[in-house]
Amino acid sequence: MSLVSFVRGRRGASGFGYASTAEEVTEGLDLRGKNILVTGVGSGLGEESARVLAARGARIFGAARSEEKAAEACRKLGGDAVPLACELSEPASVRACVANVRERGDQLDVLLCNAGIMALPKRETRYGQELQFLTNHIGHFILVTGLLGQLADTGRVVMLSSSAHKGAPRGGIQWDDLSMEKNYSPWGAYGQSKLANLLFARALARRFAGTNKTANSLHPGVIATNLGRHMGSVANGLLHAASAVFLKSIPEGAATQCYVATHPSLAAVTGEYFADCNVATSSRHGRDDAMAERLWTVTEEIVAKL
Ligand SMILES: NC(=O)c1ccc[n+]([C@@H]2O[C@H](COP(=O)([O-])OP(=O)(O)OC[C@H]3O[C@@H](n4cnc5c(N)ncnc54)[C@H](OP(=O)(O)O)[C@@H]3O)[C@@H](O)[C@H]2O)c1
Repeated sequence: MSLVSFVRGRRGASGFGYASTAEEVTEGLDLRGKNILVTGVGSGLGEESARVLAARGARIFGAARSEEKAAEACRKLGGDAVPLACELSEPASVRACVANVRERGDQLDVLLCNAGIMALPKRETRYGQELQFLTNHIGHFILVTGLLGQLADTGRVVMLSSSAHKGAPRGGIQWDDLSMEKNYSPWGAYGQSKLANLLFARALARRFAGTNKTANSLHPGVIATNLGRHMGSVANGLLHAASAVFLKSIPEGAATQCYVATHPSLAAVTGEYFADCNVATSSRHGRDDAMAERLWTVTEEIVAKL
């Protein structure tokens, strides 16, 4: 047996594994009556997750950068999907999205925080924040904390992290250089933002203690999607070329988030990090509750000024 088929065939305690698909992990689930908000609904893992969750009966609240993109994605889903404009790097847009959902008065069963950008070659900033940290972490922080009042009693918050959180700079979150002015690297900045996604889920799970709400994070696998668009054409081309043999397909990549968002066996599982549809071990920093709490406080301070 080759290494590739060994890895692909491996299943964990959940009964699912590397090659499980979003359809497989949600098989038999009846999600009618469930409202699921998905950010980044227009492409890649968000698009596939929304497609499968809608097919199981969920009503999708599809968030994308603009009204047009959200409407287009929701049109493809059919049914009663609700388009939401939510440009995560623009706090006013995220707050308008929050206000929109609150005004509608809908209760949300899942907040699937999927949107993200990766490895910008040059340091970019907006509102003084490094753009990956602003988009991936701060935008989702504003969205989720703004919608906590809409979350159902058994609601789940699911944060897309990445195994790349292990590539955050030495020491984890860079408190003295959060926007990486002194020491920028594309993967270091992405790693810091994905570590922040993971720590946010962990800190939120602590705040949910004593309730039936959960917050978890996950690594979806390595999948050739539009995420690689900033890596340069050679690296991105190699990624897509390797895809058929070595990487997960998009249906496989969407499995872990659909599993964490909906599987009945996870109703009481919270504060965990998942990979390949099973609980996994994050980096040392990813398990650091003091770092998670400090990040929450620092993010609140930043958000108050935006
Ligand atoms: N693919 C992988 O190998 C991999 C590995 C580990 C983790 N992840 C994580 O998985 C998630 C999904 O990624 P993907 O692979 O599906 O990539 P993708 O196809 O590029 O999808 C990312 C989505 O995020 C949206 N987005 C980006 N910036 C945004 C912003 N400022 N405001 C609102 N939406 C924004 C994109 O919208 P536009 O199309 O309009 O830009 C797109 O719909 C990401 O959080 C990523 O970090 C992916």
